[in-house]
Amino acid sequence: MPENSLPLIPAVRHWEASGGFFEKTQLVSVSFPSASAFDGVENTIAAQLGLEIQNSGVLKLELDPVGKLCGAAEEIIEPGGANESYQLTIQAHGMELRAQSRTGLFRGAQTLRQLMAAEGGTIPCGVISDSPEFGWRGMLLDCGRHFMPVEVIKNTIDQLAYHKFNVLHWHLTEDQGWRLEVPQYPRLAEVAAWRTESDGSRYGGFYSSDEVKEIVAYAAERFITVVPEIELPGHSVAALAAYPELSCTGRPLKVETQWGIFDDVYCAGNEKTFDFLEGVFTHAMALFPSKYIHIGGDECPKERWKNCEKCQQRIAQENLDGEHELQSWFIRRMEKFLISHDRRLVGWDEILEGGLAPAATVQSWRGTRGAIAAAQQGHNAIVSPTSHCYFDYDVATLDLRQVHSFRPRPENLSPDEQKHILGGEMNLWSEYIPHERLNNMLFPRLTAMAECLWKAPEPRDFSEFLNRMNPHLHELEKQGIIAGPADRPLNFSASLNSETGMVEIQLTLDSKLVNSLANQNLELRQRSISSHEVPNFRPDFRVEDMSLPPVLYSDHPVNENLKLSWPPSSSAEDILLVQLFIHGQPYGTPAVIENSRHLALGLEPVLAHPASDRYPGGGPLGLSNGLHGGINFRDKLWSGYEGINLDATIDLGEKTAVEELSIRFYQGATAWIFLPHEVEFQFSDDGKQWQTVASISHQVSPKTQDRTIHTFHVSDLGLETRFVRTIGHSLITCPSWHTGAGRPCWVFADEFIVR
Ligand code: ACM
Ligand code: ZN
Repeated sequence: MPENSLPLIPAVRHWEASGGFFEKTQLVSVSFPSASAFDGVENTIAAQLGLEIQNSGVLKLELDPVGKLCGAAEEIIEPGGANESYQLTIQAHGMELRAQSRTGLFRGAQTLRQLMAAEGGTIPCGVISDSPEFGWRGMLLDCGRHFMPVEVIKNTIDQLAYHKFNVLHWHLTEDQGWRLEVPQYPRLAEVAAWRTESDGSRYGGFYSSDEVKEIVAYAAERFITVVPEIELPGHSVAALAAYPELSCTGRPLKVETQWGIFDDVYCAGNEKTFDFLEGVFTHAMALFPSKYIHIGGDECPKERWKNCEKCQQRIAQENLDGEHELQSWFIRRMEKFLISHDRRLVGWDEILEGGLAPAATVQSWRGTRGAIAAAQQGHNAIVSPTSHCYFDYDVATLDLRQVHSFRPRPENLSPDEQKHILGGEMNLWSEYIPHERLNNMLFPRLTAMAECLWKAPEPRDFSEFLNRMNPHLHELEKQGIIAGPADRPLNFSASLNSETGMVEIQLTLDSKLVNSLANQNLELRQRSISSHEVPNFRPDFRVEDMSLPPVLYSDHPVNENLKLSWPPSSSAEDILLVQLFIHGQPYGTPAVIENSRHLALGLEPVLAHPASDRYPGGGPLGLSNGLHGGINFRDKLWSGYEGINLDATIDLGEKTAVEELSIRFYQGATAWIFLPHEVEFQFSDDGKQWQTVASISHQVSPKTQDRTIHTFHVSDLGLETRFVRTIGHSLITCPSWHTGAGRPCWVFADEFIVR
């Protein structure tokens, strides 16, 4: 039997079948030679498998040669994960699980659990020899943006353990909330842990020392290290709201309610900042035995430091070359402190800027460049690029196949440099993910990540993986894990049928989704709304209540392709929302479709500069497909133009009455996307001589942290014209106050609407 046909995720490194089968009903007891070396792991394994411990059990545990006695947290993360190896021998009348460490035994027990949970009454006889490819197999859980109850974290740890992860990277502090109670600084729990939402409600919470200990112990029993992240110098508004004297201005601040990057950060010139941080880290080190302590270090604007006397004094005193070196100095100082307590600092790849602290580990998130630079400088690196590891992105942006293609080892590193790649992490930022949606976002992508980090099979065979994953997800359902989609469930294209005058909408359903939901309740519902009702979707926007009856049920032949026709509307109800429902629950974001009064629909614009390959907006018809982008700018409906203007011309084919022109642009300053400072509309009879009908600016501040969709619009034109054109005048480069100052910025547009 080939190794991969064992029903396991992640797949094992080596499997040799010996013929025959073990009947699962026999597995009732476990035995082990002497308790001391096992130090409790035998109880955990017996409990997980529901076995009795007996002198001679059907499952025999062996530590080989004697087993390591060291504490769980210290032994878990090891480069290459060598101490996690195990061997499981399956014979017709018994099994033996051998390992060199308790960690290895535990990992092997997870293999056994999965074999027992899989369908069928037998397990094939043979020998599994297994060990991980990477010693750091992690997940970031952001409890800063959304506070997660202890039980939810424990359930997540259970799933991490089941899939052989070994690091929970616990993101505990944010602009929007501080979650770690520190008795020495009571205002952290009283003030920093709570925010007042826009509706006036109070949101928040924190973990007491006892709760933290409980989580750390729970994870340690499952051989998972909890690496705390306490952010500095940026993403610290919540702490500064509690202790404003630690900021450069000292002015009162509120715990943030919006997501973004904020100018107020810890003052690097003020010794009080370091007293505070050392107090906090001393407390954290008492709670977290992890060798590695994450200090964040990402996305820290330098605006306040530029204008702060103390910070400027520090720059002068320490002979630093500006604010970037001040950040680097800040990190080095914290690293010294951590090293003096025998801990190791981890930071996001921004800590490379201005020079890396001597023993720092870099977590690369902006691609893999950070990991490459770190490894080339002889530093360890954790690889978690947005392109493969950001599970807060919905599957329209990061689908299962893409996760499965993740290769944590960047190419172009020498074998020695490769040794610095500790492993990777899937990052579940929680701006839009309250804990109710956690599993829906984690699964099924977690299973692919487990595979990428435990085993690096080459070539990676996605369909073979799916064959194992689908029944595995079925088993997980019995544990209460309801996975989200593997892929964008619906794709839309719209066109105007000039003969019938109908808007024809082609819906493409993900075939895997169709198959996996064959017997389940799947519906598409649609509703018309007026254009002013178009919501500014958040990524988690769902149309909860579609008042119209569903247009399609699963007992229809729900095949991959489905056509809907929609008559042109003469009323103001001129936008169509289409939402997929599964089990009666809205699923994925709805499609927003313009109606037929949009004359440019389906006409390919001529672009002075093509859209970026990274954001093509769905192809040549990106600006005229009738589809509106959502607030997730990566939803493949937005066309992006980097460092250039958007300049699009539509040929209407003949002289046509045009009353109204509009175009929607996106702003997300943290993603370097800004509204054009001005949008021009022009018309022409020949496509050569242009007349401007309107130049429109706007009042939206580029500094706003809100993601915004803004419509530039002109009406009552009374034109008769063949060609219409729009130019979105980009800022071209990020403004001087922005982290990307002077570097190319983006304009994003989704639809050029002509009526
Ligand atoms: C990050 O996503 N800012 C590390
Ligand atoms: Zn300062």
